[in-house]
Amino acid sequence: MPLGLYTKAIVRRPSASFVNGLTRSELGPPDMELALAQHRTYVGALEDCNLMVQELEAKEEFPDSTFIEDTAVMFPDFALITRPGAESRRGEVELMKRLFGRIGFPCETIDSGTLDGGDVIVLDDHVYIGLSKRTNSGGARTFGRILDNHGYKWTVVPIPNEALHLREVVNYIGNRILVCAPSMAMRNELESFDKLIVPDDEAHCANMLAIGDNVLIPMGAPKTLKKLSRMNYKRIIELDISEFQKMDGGLTCLSLRS
Ligand code: GLY
Repeated sequence: MPLGLYTKAIVRRPSASFVNGLTRSELGPPDMELALAQHRTYVGALEDCNLMVQELEAKEEFPDSTFIEDTAVMFPDFALITRPGAESRRGEVELMKRLFGRIGFPCETIDSGTLDGGDVIVLDDHVYIGLSKRTNSGGARTFGRILDNHGYKWTVVPIPNEALHLREVVNYIGNRILVCAPSMAMRNELESFDKLIVPDDEAHCANMLAIGDNVLIPMGAPKTLKKLSRMNYKRIIELDISEFQKMDGGLTCLSLRS
């Protein structure tokens, strides 16, 4: 999608099984009541940014399915159905195939290797694909062939071991600026961009979400917030997503925007 100019978002409500999802964090189990309240606030923030939000029902059989960004990548004329790197998440993509099938929206599918949507950043005609524990070189190559057929350029960007997804450590926030965790600031593949480098003690806020001239940022990042406030955003919306961070989630992976 071109540079954060989204009009729609799809989200999936967290299920009661969310507490059994995958996580590397040691922050303890999520409080479900709070998670649901935070999810409602997140949806409200997307709506405040003028997105039309489609909220899908919770799926008990897929504890991580609220992290819907990992299941698909949206382009103006097709959706890429991913092949998640975690076995327990593989079946989530069938839900997305059915969703797009019902409305007749064309889909392409990753049929070999693995690829999570959280490892993908689409910037106009150029797609950045993170190589991570979830997205392997086979998945990146398969995606690359699909992108070649659709006339997109693509670049593979390895991410550090400690990160789960590319979008945990890099995001586009408009005006040719990438917000980066310190570990990604010097990567050659990203050298043509200006950078907002978040400090180590605010690394979690590299996962921010720009929507038009608004930006959503996770709570607990005062230094970054101060820097953002000197930039030209209409609104900076701070959101508490503590219960999703406990399950390795962030602001971007809670929605699929187009
Ligand atoms: N809990 C999010 C993920 O590991 O995919």
